Amino acid sequence: MRPCQRGGTSANKRVNAKAPYLKSIFASNLTEHSGITELMDDLGEALTLGRGRLRMLGGGSPSHIPAVQAIWRERMRELLVETPDEYDRVMADYDQPAGSPAFREAVAAFLKREYGWNLSARNIAVTNGGQTAFFFLLNRFAGKMVDGSVRKILLPLVPEYIGYGDQGVSEHDMFDSRRPLIELIGERGFKYHIDFDALDLNESHGAIAVSRPTNPSSNVLTDGEIGKLRNLAAENGIPLIIDNAYGLPFPGVIFREATPVWDENIILTLSLSKLGLPGTRTGIVVAREEVIDEIRSMTAIVGLSNNNIGQAMARPIIESGEVLLLAQEVVKPYYQERSLRALELARQHLPGEVPWRVHESEGAFFLWFWFDALPISCRELYARLKAANLIVVPGEYFFYGLDSTGWDHASQCLRVSFTQPEEIVADGFRILGEVIREVYEGKSRP
Ligand SMILES: Cc1ncc(COP(=O)(O)O)c(C=O)c1O
Repeated sequence: MRPCQRGGTSANKRVNAKAPYLKSIFASNLTEHSGITELMDDLGEALTLGRGRLRMLGGGSPSHIPAVQAIWRERMRELLVETPDEYDRVMADYDQPAGSPAFREAVAAFLKREYGWNLSARNIAVTNGGQTAFFFLLNRFAGKMVDGSVRKILLPLVPEYIGYGDQGVSEHDMFDSRRPLIELIGERGFKYHIDFDALDLNESHGAIAVSRPTNPSSNVLTDGEIGKLRNLAAENGIPLIIDNAYGLPFPGVIFREATPVWDENIILTLSLSKLGLPGTRTGIVVAREEVIDEIRSMTAIVGLSNNNIGQAMARPIIESGEVLLLAQEVVKPYYQERSLRALELARQHLPGEVPWRVHESEGAFFLWFWFDALPISCRELYARLKAANLIVVPGEYFFYGLDSTGWDHASQCLRVSFTQPEEIVADGFRILGEVIREVYEGKSRP
């Protein structure tokens, strides 16, 4: 640029400096209002500013289980005191972008031993949490492909995890979702099933994705459903991505029979978060080697390497297999008990005359309520609950990738987490019961 031009336009430039910058598609996709951002903001607000006032039954933070925390504290002590060289390496060295070789080896050997899967360290990649694994995987298999075609991720059943909803970075919609079949169970229960007749898997789909157990509903897809999805994906030459954030073998927060599966056409993600280490941001991808190589490249480009503390913390109990005992004998019973207690609280506080139902509690950290004929939208219900100091997650955020016009169910659900201390959960259900009664009676608070 010539100097005289620069001088001549400086005043304009100062004025323009206040105008918003033009957004890229990438920025617009990742910065517009999103459910997951609202949820994480609420979580932060409740756990910091609103401590003592807000009842936080919204987020997916794990409980602080004393027996689990003791294991992680002891391991940290061991690193600091007994193996200071290892501690220094963890703190002072960058990890390889696919993860620490020893950790990848330990995970592969453990899964091979437990389930007979034909794996080596080359089938394992570490990411900064399962969330980042999904960001890479979803954008890997959906959007504009190198042959010019556009593909989407088929979600065979929504509601599905809120955290996938806004992860697409291309100008194309990322998801093509299907409504579930709803089985009514008794007076107060229900359960979702995949409607295979409506699946219509076709060449516009780049992958099928499910969480198992599903966040938010706690639904666990049956072995039969997973088997069918697995066959359909393989027949169409696309992967089945299974998000195992709460599932088997760890953290093991699954309350019904379910068989973990993996083969070369399945991409399985695991995480250390629900095992009590969300702060370490450690996700694990189990996949065929070519996918692992791609994840490795993406990690190197986006963030150089991963956080290696979680890997160092968990490696010994994965190597020894002790992680299974922890999952089965501590973590699972703990959350199962919390789930039963939350169900009791629901029965105690939710008005008997209101047509509420709750999804079968089959795993994960939540109860998923359906308020049939709800007089207001669940977003409005969320706002009223927040005003009454209770934070939950409005259900509509979990129904993305489909046109839900005319489908009332999608605006009648709420996700309520039961991982916070007992007294907070109990008080939260008390508030929920009061506000629900007012809403159905047509009253609003002053
Ligand atoms: C179903 C599901 N997948 C993935 C994640 C991401 O977890 P993280 O990134 O902590 O591993 C979560 C977190 O709540 C989840 O519920």
